[in-house]
Amino acid sequence: MKHNHINLALRFTLVFFLTVGSFAGYGFHHFQGAGELTVTAASRGPVRAPHGMVASTSSIASQVGVDILERGGNAVDAAIAVAFAEAVTHPAAGNIGGGGFMMIRLKNGKATAIDYREMGPAAANRNVYLDQDGNLIKGEGSSTIGYRAAGVPGTVRGMELALKKYGSGKLTWAQLTEPARRLAAEGFPLSHSYAASLRGNSDLLAPYEDSKRIFLNNGKFFKEGELLRQPELAATFARLQKYGPNEFYEGETARLIAQDMKRHNGLITLADMHNYVAKEREPLRSTYRGHEIISMPPPSSGGAVLIEMLNILEGYDLKSFGWSSADRYHLMTEAMRRAFADRAEFMGDTNFVKVPVAGMIDKKYAASLRQTIATDHASTSAEVRAGKPPGYESEETTHFTVVDKDGNAVANTYTLNGGYGSGVTAKGTGILLNNEMDDFAAKPGTPNAYGLIQGENNAVAARKRPLSAMTPTFVLRKDGSLWFAIGSPGGPTIINTVLQVITDIVDYDMNIQQAVDAPRIHHQWLPDEIAYEPYGLSSDTKHALEALGHKLVSKPRYMGDAEGIMIEEKTGVRLGASDPRGGDSAAIGY
Ligand code: DON
Repeated sequence: MKHNHINLALRFTLVFFLTVGSFAGYGFHHFQGAGELTVTAASRGPVRAPHGMVASTSSIASQVGVDILERGGNAVDAAIAVAFAEAVTHPAAGNIGGGGFMMIRLKNGKATAIDYREMGPAAANRNVYLDQDGNLIKGEGSSTIGYRAAGVPGTVRGMELALKKYGSGKLTWAQLTEPARRLAAEGFPLSHSYAASLRGNSDLLAPYEDSKRIFLNNGKFFKEGELLRQPELAATFARLQKYGPNEFYEGETARLIAQDMKRHNGLITLADMHNYVAKEREPLRSTYRGHEIISMPPPSSGGAVLIEMLNILEGYDLKSFGWSSADRYHLMTEAMRRAFADRAEFMGDTNFVKVPVAGMIDKKYAASLRQTIATDHASTSAEVRAGKPPGYESEETTHFTVVDKDGNAVANTYTLNGGYGSGVTAKGTGILLNNEMDDFAAKPGTPNAYGLIQGENNAVAARKRPLSAMTPTFVLRKDGSLWFAIGSPGGPTIINTVLQVITDIVDYDMNIQQAVDAPRIHHQWLPDEIAYEPYGLSSDTKHALEALGHKLVSKPRYMGDAEGIMIEEKTGVRLGASDPRGGDSAAIGY
């Protein structure tokens, strides 16, 4: 048996070296500085491959996806295998105990969105995270830590729906869950960054017996290069493989989760598991300088906020301002401030509340907001309240992107919310549970873990989905063909990461790797400050922004982990870009 573990570890290490190594610097496929790279910002060139490409935060999972593509699977098949593999290799965010969104664009141009966001358990209500005095509960029992923080997981139902409707039919559920089962059973070697991440989260994980044993090596911690084996998770995947997705919601796995919840005063019951539904939704569509933008509708705020910001910025000739100019940062910040104010006021699960999505993404509304932006001084967030969009109508996440040989594409962002979610591994399942309930406004008007102020529309309720910022997005060429697909983790910074990647490509002619690498800023209305990455702004630019009245704060860490794929116009070559901010990320093609 031991032999096998080592073989698998070696195989992945070798595959990683051969594939990533050869694409990323040593081999024929790498064209840094070649012809089409007219912009010279220092980035390695994107990874090139003629047929298919997977860009994810986990090199092992990217290789799993490429294997599926090579076996004749389409982008959706590969995405499902990647999602399950990351539940093993990227336990901070990859999951079957959480939820997310899968945007799919088929080669015939049809685009759709699979919503597998967690749902509030039946016992959830607007007071469930408040103490007797109406204050937010802290620690165990709160919306952020422990058993009560978890919403009903959606990932397995989401993958089931995606496979049923959009899989190639060539690969079975059992085949797509197998790489994850094997990785969990045999283990995989922990990278330096992962070993450090697990140790760094010991306060969160240690109080829960199974989390401590599995992820903290029973308190002894794992070292770089050691194998992380997850036998209970392997057994869970084996059950899923044998009995199908219903097993998770109605079988032994559901029973184990509900039993552990009951024992620890959690909210999720067996009935909640039974009642979970994934939904197919119509994506939001708009244009930016003639390029169609296709993005995620509610219960994500991502698509609507992204489009509102792009619409505001479209009225300015961003290109005429230098990329790193204070003017560009100023206008971008003012767009962020206004769109995030609208997010706070209006957005929530549209199955429960009315959200003026059509108004928020209306170009005339953006024009009216532009009227409120001065070029010579910053607004304050105190003066910028949510606008009046017309017409009411009825720190871990992970994104990966897949394009197959036929041109079908998947942009998938899914999450446990915080890194390692609630910290709880449901006993006997190996499944880390999310803390997505904190994406609700546990107390409307009071900031959540991301400092986001959110309104009544996003108050906690049974069977409601918490508002998300996840923004898996497609951008098309003017001829209607796929140009690139992108997404990122980072809580509220997600939407601004996607915004900046899009404008860096459309307005500043960056290639996809340069756009992914480029330093980013973030403003979310409140707190009224521009956060920037370490070394991300020059002192001159900072001083110019301060002179306009902006407040600046340096983020201690980087923002996001954008994983994208672009299609090269003339050749159709797939150009993969993984984010250097993600320690183990890799774009791998074939
Ligand atoms: O859905 C959301 O918006 C959040 N739960 C995402 C959390 C996240 O990206 C954390 N990552 N750094």
